[in-house]
Amino acid sequence: MADTDGSELAEPDRGLVLVSNRGPVEHMLDSEGRRVTRRGAGGLVTALSDLAGLTDAVWVCNAITAEDRAIAREHEHGAVRIDDGERRYRVRLVDHDPAEYQRFYSIIANPMLWFVQHYLWDLSNVPDITANELEAFDKGYAPVNERLADAVAEEVARSGGAARVMLHDYHLYLVPALVRDRCPDAFLHHFIHIPWPQPDAWRVLPARLRDPMLRGLLANDVVAFHTERYARNFLLTCQELLDLPVSFRDLSVRVGSHTLAARWYPISIDAAALEAEAASEGVAEAHDRLLNMRREYLILRVDRTDLSKNILRGFKAFRQLLRHHPELTGRVTFLALLQPSRQDVDEYIEYLEKIRRLVADINLEHGNADWQPIDLRIEDSFPQTVAAYKLFDVLVVNPVFDGMNLVAKEGMLINEHDGVLVLSEHAGVHAELGAFSISVHPFDIEAQADALWQGLTMEADERRARREACVEVIRSNDIRRWLQEQLNDMAALEAEPDPTAAPTPDEGRDRVGT
Ligand code: F6P
Repeated sequence: MADTDGSELAEPDRGLVLVSNRGPVEHMLDSEGRRVTRRGAGGLVTALSDLAGLTDAVWVCNAITAEDRAIAREHEHGAVRIDDGERRYRVRLVDHDPAEYQRFYSIIANPMLWFVQHYLWDLSNVPDITANELEAFDKGYAPVNERLADAVAEEVARSGGAARVMLHDYHLYLVPALVRDRCPDAFLHHFIHIPWPQPDAWRVLPARLRDPMLRGLLANDVVAFHTERYARNFLLTCQELLDLPVSFRDLSVRVGSHTLAARWYPISIDAAALEAEAASEGVAEAHDRLLNMRREYLILRVDRTDLSKNILRGFKAFRQLLRHHPELTGRVTFLALLQPSRQDVDEYIEYLEKIRRLVADINLEHGNADWQPIDLRIEDSFPQTVAAYKLFDVLVVNPVFDGMNLVAKEGMLINEHDGVLVLSEHAGVHAELGAFSISVHPFDIEAQADALWQGLTMEADERRARREACVEVIRSNDIRRWLQEQLNDMAALEAEPDPTAAPTPDEGRDRVGT
């Protein structure tokens, strides 16, 4: 494995299999019945596209649309070359019964696991674990994971048995153990892009659901996260819920004769690609349109309509700002660019409805015939988002909990107004950008209102210095470095002989807690 400075990826020297729920592209029919591709949604897809497009990796993912499923069948469930206009990938689409996939995605992965890992359950009321949830696990999550594992095992065998497998996220917790059974020589690396909470959060799930998932994960060689805190929480979970010996010094857990490493790599963005997008014609047009609506001050948020994003409290804080500072009437706009998300899950449908109602109330309370304080746009337009990044004075990123949050990195890189970042202390990105932002507690609405005011009124020199510091961090750890460091560490771990089961001296001490 060649070492690089992170500017370009070195070609991996073993077979590589990527595995995730969503793949690099989704297929659908256009209005004339022609098959077209759309780039897969989300930060994870962007992050892996480089690796898959530049190497001969095969990307195993779920067939999500009807056209994806048709392609999987046409190619007899083998890998197919797909072109997204920019890159070519080898993709293996795994086809499922739609009812099974719905139970897997819309009951177990979301909301069940997502809410556990973001501490979102309102425990005096929900969740109810009923026959419906148990069935969703047995007849949804489990068979979808099994079919993915079958496909991965075949691809590993095809590449000689010793491939690296890079799994992604909470949709796949059963896959590693299933692959390990059949591929003892594969190197299994699982990246979890959402927070790993403290052990008690997992107690919401009965052992019947929880244990197979945790045990499934333990078959990996590496489990990776965005922050050190999540890696340590993972070890605590292994210690408290599974009674396994862990070392907080080495960040490892012993499972029989096997050592699993917990690691952390803060994900980032493709800075060069985003800057190229920012210079595009589409962004210029969107920029002109936004410039026309811009008042003296622009506050921005960009999010999926996810409960973890804390969109309602952000608006309540803005309402407090307007109540405390009537002099802002007519001079400030809160532009909210929200992308509808998971609209097949009840909690998400209700959340979007609450957002619309709260915005209507605030606009009624403070707006007038000439000015609406909140400009809510529920749509998905990347050129418009990038244009808004250029223009904001304050960017609000106030999640309840968030694995990383790439909006903070994208916005601060592209901004041309020396904009200020108002950032939740519970976002993973806070570990990198917190020092240069105005930190807020996501439940403290008054503090968020004060932070908005502080951001709008901050001296120009200070705003500039803070933004430049953010940009330096973002540029020095971009997406290629994120990937390359993982590949380098994998190579180093593969080269290490697995130590024997004898506990290292600090393990006894760690077990009582550090
Ligand atoms: O990491 C969390 C994640 O699963 C990402 O892969 C993705 O960007 C985001 O959530 C969107 O989720 P979904 O695939 O459910 O739309």
